[in-house]
Amino acid sequence: MSPTKKVSPQSFLCMKEKGEKISVLTAYDYLMAKVFEFSGIDALLVGDSMGMVIYGKENTLKVKLDDIIRHTTAVAKAANHAMVIADMPFMSFATPEIALLNAGRALQEGDADAVKIEGGRERVETVKLLVSNGIPVMAHIGLTPQYFHQLGGYRLQGKTAEAAKKLIEDAILLEEAGAFSIVLEMVPWQIAREISRHLQIPTIGIGAGNGCDGQVLVAQDMLGFSNSKPYRFVKQYAHLWNIMLQAAESYIHDVKTQNFPTLEHSFSISEEEFHEFQHLLENDQLISFRKKIKKTKESSLDTDTIGKIYGQ
Ligand code: KIV
Repeated sequence: MSPTKKVSPQSFLCMKEKGEKISVLTAYDYLMAKVFEFSGIDALLVGDSMGMVIYGKENTLKVKLDDIIRHTTAVAKAANHAMVIADMPFMSFATPEIALLNAGRALQEGDADAVKIEGGRERVETVKLLVSNGIPVMAHIGLTPQYFHQLGGYRLQGKTAEAAKKLIEDAILLEEAGAFSIVLEMVPWQIAREISRHLQIPTIGIGAGNGCDGQVLVAQDMLGFSNSKPYRFVKQYAHLWNIMLQAAESYIHDVKTQNFPTLEHSFSISEEEFHEFQHLLENDQLISFRKKIKKTKESSLDTDTIGKIYGQ
C-alpha cells in the first residue's frame, strides 16, 4: 500500500537534501497510474510522449493541451500520494501569458499538481510568471523533443564543452527563475552529474546517467509494451508485449474452439422463467413477429410503430 501524503515540490527538495533518489514514471490512464501509485512512485508525468505511445503519432508535436488535460484527470484520480505533473505540449507556452492561461487549465481542469515545460533560458520569464502565480514548474533541458526540427533529430545534447556550459547555465537560470526541478534528457552522464551537483533543486534524468537526483522513464518503454528494440537508456523491467500477445492468442484460440466462455463465465435464468419463456415462443410467435416487422419495413420505426408491433 502506498503512503497517502502527497509528494510536493518541497518533498522533492527534501529528497535531494537527504540524498534519496526521486522516482518518476509517465502515466496516461487511470489503471496504470493506480498500479504505479500502489508501487509508491514519487511522481507521475503525464508526458506529451502520449503522442507516440497512446496515439501512435511520429512525434510529440500533435499533442494538444486538451489531450494532456483529459489524460491528467484520469491519472490524478489514482494519485493520492504521487505528484502529478502535466506536460505542457508544443505551442501551449509560446508566450508567458499563453503559458499562464494553459498551465492554469492544467491545474484547474486537469487536477495536475505541477507542469513541465521544455526549454532553457528562453523559458525564464515563463517560469517566473507561472511560479509567481502558484504553479510549480518542472523545467526540461538537454534533448527537448518539441524542438526536434531545430535540433536535427533526437540526439545527445551537451557533447562539447561549449554546449555543456550552455546547458549548466540554462539549468542555473531556470533554478533562479523558480523551477522546482529539471529534467535532463540525453545528456552525457558526466555533464548531468555536474549540473546536479551545482543545483539546489533536483535533476531528473532520462538518458543522463546515475548522477542525477532522480530518474524518469516512459512507462511503456520500461514495461516492454512494444516489440521494438528498446532505446539504450531504457531498462526493461517487464516484457508486456510477450505477455499480452500470448494472452490475446490464447483468447482467440479459446473463442474459436469454444473453450470460452464456459458456464463459469455465464449467467443463468431460473428454470421456471426459462420454461415460461419457451412457452411464450411456442406457436410460431417469432414468425408472426417477423411478419409484422416486414409489413412496417418501409415506414420509419417510430415509437408508435414499435408500440403497435408489440401490440400496445
Ligand atoms: O513526454 C515525456 O514522456 C517526457 C519524458 C520523456 C521526460 O517528457
